[in-house]
Amino acid sequence: MRNIIQLLGIITICFLTYNLIDVKSQNQTNYVPIDQIFLNCGGPNSTESDGRKWISDTTFSPSTTATAATAATQKPDVSQVPYMTARVSRSNFTYTIPASPGRVFLRLHFYSAAYGNLTAADALFSATSSAYTLLKNFSAAQTMEALQLTHMVKEFSINIPAGEESLTVTFAPASDHTNSYAFVNGIELVSHPDTFATASALAVGQSSGFQIDNATALENVRRLNVGENAIKPSDDNGLFRSWGNDDDYLFGAAHGVVRRLDPNVTVAAPVNYAAPLGLYTTLRSMGPNSSVNRNSNLTWYFKIDSGFSYLVRLHFCEISGDIYKTNQIVFTIFLNKQTAAAVADVIAWAGGNGVPIHRDFVVFVATGPSQQNLWLDLHPYTASSPQFYDAILNGLEIFKINDSRGNLGGPNPTLTLPESDAPSSNKPPSKNHSAAIGGGVGAGASALLVVVIVILVARRRRNAAAGEEDGWLTLSKYGNSPSLFSGTTTTTATSIGSSLPSGLCRHFSFAEIKAATNNFDEALLLGLGGFGKVYRGEVEITDGTTTKVAIKRGNPLSQQGVHEFQTEIEMLSKLRHRHLVSLIGFCQEKHEMILVYDYMSNGTLREHLYNAPNPATPALSWKQRLGICIGAARGLHYLHTGVKQTIIHRDVKTTNILLDEKWVAKVSDFGLSKTGPSMEDTHVSTLVKGSFGYLDPEYYRRQQLTEKSDVYSFGVVLFEVLCGRPPLMRKLPKEQVSLAEWARRCYEEGSLGGIRDPCLVGKIAAESFEKFAETAAKCVDEVGAERPSMGDVLWNLEFALQLQESAEEGLVVVADDFDLSRSVASLDSSGATPSAVFSQIMNADGR
Ligand SMILES: *[C@@H]1O[C@H](CO)[C@@H](O)[C@H](O)[C@H]1NC(C)=O
Ligand SMILES: *[C@@H]1O[C@H](CO)[C@@H](O)[C@H](O)[C@H]1NC(C)=O
Ligand SMILES: *[C@@H]1O[C@H](CO)[C@@H](O)[C@H](O)[C@H]1NC(C)=O
Ligand SMILES: *[C@@H]1O[C@H](CO)[C@@H](O)[C@H](O)[C@H]1NC(C)=O
Ligand SMILES: *[C@@H]1O[C@H](CO)[C@@H](O)[C@H](O)[C@H]1NC(C)=O
Ligand SMILES: *[C@@H]1O[C@H](CO)[C@@H](O)[C@H](O)[C@H]1NC(C)=O
Ligand SMILES: *[C@@H]1O[C@H](CO)[C@@H](O)[C@H](O)[C@H]1NC(C)=O
Ligand SMILES: *[C@@H]1O[C@H](CO)[C@@H](O)[C@H](O)[C@H]1NC(C)=O
Ligand SMILES: *[C@@H]1O[C@H](CO)[C@@H](O)[C@H](O)[C@H]1NC(C)=O
Ligand SMILES: *[C@@H]1O[C@H](CO)[C@@H](O)[C@H](O)[C@H]1NC(C)=O
Repeated sequence: MRNIIQLLGIITICFLTYNLIDVKSQNQTNYVPIDQIFLNCGGPNSTESDGRKWISDTTFSPSTTATAATAATQKPDVSQVPYMTARVSRSNFTYTIPASPGRVFLRLHFYSAAYGNLTAADALFSATSSAYTLLKNFSAAQTMEALQLTHMVKEFSINIPAGEESLTVTFAPASDHTNSYAFVNGIELVSHPDTFATASALAVGQSSGFQIDNATALENVRRLNVGENAIKPSDDNGLFRSWGNDDDYLFGAAHGVVRRLDPNVTVAAPVNYAAPLGLYTTLRSMGPNSSVNRNSNLTWYFKIDSGFSYLVRLHFCEISGDIYKTNQIVFTIFLNKQTAAAVADVIAWAGGNGVPIHRDFVVFVATGPSQQNLWLDLHPYTASSPQFYDAILNGLEIFKINDSRGNLGGPNPTLTLPESDAPSSNKPPSKNHSAAIGGGVGAGASALLVVVIVILVARRRRNAAAGEEDGWLTLSKYGNSPSLFSGTTTTTATSIGSSLPSGLCRHFSFAEIKAATNNFDEALLLGLGGFGKVYRGEVEITDGTTTKVAIKRGNPLSQQGVHEFQTEIEMLSKLRHRHLVSLIGFCQEKHEMILVYDYMSNGTLREHLYNAPNPATPALSWKQRLGICIGAARGLHYLHTGVKQTIIHRDVKTTNILLDEKWVAKVSDFGLSKTGPSMEDTHVSTLVKGSFGYLDPEYYRRQQLTEKSDVYSFGVVLFEVLCGRPPLMRKLPKEQVSLAEWARRCYEEGSLGGIRDPCLVGKIAAESFEKFAETAAKCVDEVGAERPSMGDVLWNLEFALQLQESAEEGLVVVADDFDLSRSVASLDSSGATPSAVFSQIMNADGR
């Protein structure tokens, strides 16, 4: 294992330098827009570092009723033009912006805040431009809260008819709301080549085409650089589009692999600046195994407003030197489960490799719930017997098309949806509207560290075969193909492998394993890791009773795995605890290394916090979350103290906390654990291993491992549980990228309540919140020695649960205004703060 990690580290570094050169050589002349104008509404002229020259809006808004205003509060990450000032008015106001005929991007920038004596909630308005309604009853405050944005950009593409010399935009406060007012912080107008008129898009599920003509206005709702990092507006060849990363939109366990530009291939400049050149230099493909690919899809999903047609533009470019002929990679494109293109052969479409192309499809999303998912599936096409069963995608854009009345406005997204269609714990995966502008400049050691980590994470993913970062035990409930089949075995023979421990651990024959998994049927695949595949199966334990199991099959070719395999069996068979995933048995025959575990039917903790594969997953309540954290803390506490020699887990994260059918949390993945310090040493010196976002900075710096590194990672887990967001989010402004840093800072500033998971708003007792927040913050202390022990963490979490229960019983009023600026009682690392009320829970279930 060490070797693998070391190797990965080296590859990572190589890729890092390679990438820097790579990016520099990506040259494409900038598009020179006929018109480009950036209005700083309510503010002065100002040139920003990204090259945009913002000018004061005074000469474009003749209305005298619209006044300049400054936001009452400025968050540090949005202290930039145009978000510092706004034009606000209680009555209609219109901008007339000079523009030449042709298509323009109109971008409206919003930062929700109180402006003067006007509250953020009263900003409720529409925006129109000629025949189009761009925004309808729009609440920036509600949208930003629901999507957890600090600021947002709405982008439209509108055609200015021949003969006209300007574009008007009118903002009108909602008439059915008293005190309503309209505001805007910035307006951008950038003319762009009309890439829509040139080809008619294919209407999915209909025989006709769909013409995006001059009368059609579009709103961009998603724009992704598939398989790669975000592309900032300033890197988009003069068009200032913002391209996000596709990670948050991937569905299921099979995320494919990222392929990068083959040095022998040169990418031609895309026609009409359809996308920046860099977008085409990476792609996501299904991966190298044709037989796996045949049985699976590469799937993305996007939350969108119902009742509109959408233009889905897929960008392709083959970048491998080995793929240059037709019928090498051929696949089928499905949109919303309907065939959009039965036979997609990128080489046939483009005429060769290195040639960027895009294909447009139009999908009508019927009315129903106000928001629903748009699905994109790619599946290998087999009828023409292509050389590889694979599929690729380089980039993607989704545009909303105006309806027959010229409307583009959708409902304001809501925080808590009704039970029926309620992914309330799952944030809409979209963070796309948040302009990636924030991440621009910034030196300083911590910023650099974050950037490096972000790059490392990205590289790590890239180098990995599908989901390398998933360890042995990471089980996802959702495989590629959710068939319910399961095999059963009838053999009861129990022979114990020679060098391997006996006792509770059972030996399975290879034949038994084959029967249990229907000969490793891909339909039973639960997850895919760098070390092997995990299948669901059913085995007989004692006469007649069968049990569901998860079967992890090591890659038969990997010889390095043998030692690790035996370590894991040895370690796991000794460790028996309610809050650790149990090893049921193993199989070691020929070159096979197979482990059999309890099946965890509720999957990983992470999928219940955000990015749920199944959007209908209901949100976990605060009490459930506390219960799960307590369980996981018990498991870790046992590892640290319950066995003869301390065991340091080294990879504590929400995907390694699994949930059984009764929602009991079980810690998994010990294949990489380290036996901790003996009495004389206080640390284990070791190669840094772990998952970015969870990594103890002290361990990272000093490469010395103590159990306090697990405490740090567990602190990150606690913040994830509280905030319902991943530990790293590259798209956010730099202060917020790392959850550990951002949450601790919010905690110190007393604003942690503001970033908690929206579906917990109004549901957490203030005292419980305080206790939990304090505990989490202590766990992520920079200095390991200052962090509490797992035992203290456990005790404090139990305390937090008790506080919540008391509150729910009505003993304490559930408050929702968290003021953490006052100092809270410190967490005693001796753990000597019990009170009579809680003494009994200390003895509750556990070992
Ligand atoms: C890229 O463009 C810059 C300036 O536009 C130029 O100096 C440089 O030589 C170009 N590099 C390549 C590889 O074409
Ligand atoms: C702001 O910039 C505009 C356009 O360049 C110019 O016309 C105007 O005079 C400038 N205003 C000030 C106050 O500098
Ligand atoms: C669309 O509008 C542009 C200018 O706005 C004009 O040049 C072009 O001819 C129009 N196309 C059609 C088909 O009317
Ligand atoms: C807000 O302030 C303006 C003047 O700055 C005043 O005319 C208006 O009445 C005030 N509105 C409220 C609701 O206080
Ligand atoms: C306008 O939006 C607000 C806030 O989302 C909502 O309460 C109100 O019902 C909406 N009004 C209409 C007419 O849709
Ligand atoms: C303001 O604009 C709205 C929507 O465009 C329109 O219905 C309303 O009549 C306008 N009000 C005034 C006073 O012009
Ligand atoms: C690049 O092309 C050269 C010469 O055609 C060939 O020898 C080499 O293997 C190619 N490299 C890759 C990575 O395909
Ligand atoms: C592809 O996967 C199948 C099924 O898991 C396996 O039997 C086969 O050996 C794999 N092929 C390669 C080349 O890894
Ligand atoms: C791939 O997606 C299509 C369209 O949603 C679906 O019909 C098909 O069953 C999927 N195939 C697999 C193997 O999941
Ligand atoms: C978009 O709105 C315009 C103006 O109302 C209308 O002429 C056009 O037909 C609409 N497009 C669609 C596709 O309905």
